[in-house]
Amino acid sequence: GASVEVDISGLQPGEKIVVEWRGKPVWIMRRTEEQLATLEKLEDQLADPNSQRTAYPTPPYARNRHRSIKPEIFIAIGICSHLGCSPIDKLQPGPQPSLPNDWLGGFLCPCHGSTFDLAGRVFRNKPAPDNLEIPPHHYLSETVVLIG
Ligand code: FES
Repeated sequence: GASVEVDISGLQPGEKIVVEWRGKPVWIMRRTEEQLATLEKLEDQLADPNSQRTAYPTPPYARNRHRSIKPEIFIAIGICSHLGCSPIDKLQPGPQPSLPNDWLGGFLCPCHGSTFDLAGRVFRNKPAPDNLEIPPHHYLSETVVLIG
C-alpha cells in the first residue's frame, strides 16, 4: 500500500488523530510533558517495557521508553495485539471503570480488558501478548511525517 504523508503542525499537546494506512488505523498523538513523565513510573507493571518482543517488532528508532522518534509524538497502529479490537482512549488519569485506581492515562481494549500505557506498552497479565505495533515511519521535515 501507499505511504501516507501527515502534517502534524496543527496537532496540539494532548491531542490524538487517526489516519488510515493499509486499511489500518494509525494513531498520531502529541503527548504532553505530564503524559511523557508517566512512562518512567510504569516499567515494573509492563509486560515488555523495552519493546524486546518480536511478534510485532518495534522499529529500532522506537525501541525506547517513549517508543517514538520524537519523544512527544507517539505513532502506533490502533489495533490490539490480542484479537484485533481497537483500544479506546483513556487519557485521563485517576480511577474509572475497568482501570486500576493508580491509572496514569493510556488506552483500554474494550474486548477483553487489555490496558496500554501512553506509549502503547501493554500491562502485565493481560490477554494482549504484545505492545501496540509501531508502523514504519520517518520525518520528511520538522512537521511532516511519512507513514509506511
Ligand atoms: Fe484486545 Fe482481546 S482484543 S484484549
